[in-house]
Amino acid sequence: MLGRLNHVALAVPDLAAAIAAYRNTLGAELTEPQALSEHGVTVVFVNVGNTKIELLEPLGEGSPIAAFLAKNPSGGMHHLCYEVDDILAARDQLKAAGARVLGDGNPKIGAHGKPVLFLHPKDFFGTLIELEQS
Ligand code: CO
Repeated sequence: MLGRLNHVALAVPDLAAAIAAYRNTLGAELTEPQALSEHGVTVVFVNVGNTKIELLEPLGEGSPIAAFLAKNPSGGMHHLCYEVDDILAARDQLKAAGARVLGDGNPKIGAHGKPVLFLHPKDFFGTLIELEQS
């Protein structure tokens, strides 16, 4: 089921500061910021060749990363995103195995224009997992 690691996501309190650190201090290539109102975040991707780093800043009221940043005010690793060939088949297989799918269980369109789902971190050793249709 599990394909390649699409990205590692970091929640950051100040996206402009994170962009400056990755671009200027680390010398990385970044995408332009993208506001995803349905997900309550603004995202930037850092291209590191073998995978990507997703920088996430809260957007709007009730952002799903607001509680995480309240607990981790300087930011931190928020989730891992793995690619799957068939997201609905993966969801059904995971649910049958007892894993909890977040939200209403239906994929939303993610930052790459592809369907995504999130899995409960307590089912996967304290790490939130995003699945993205490859
Ligand atoms: Co992500």
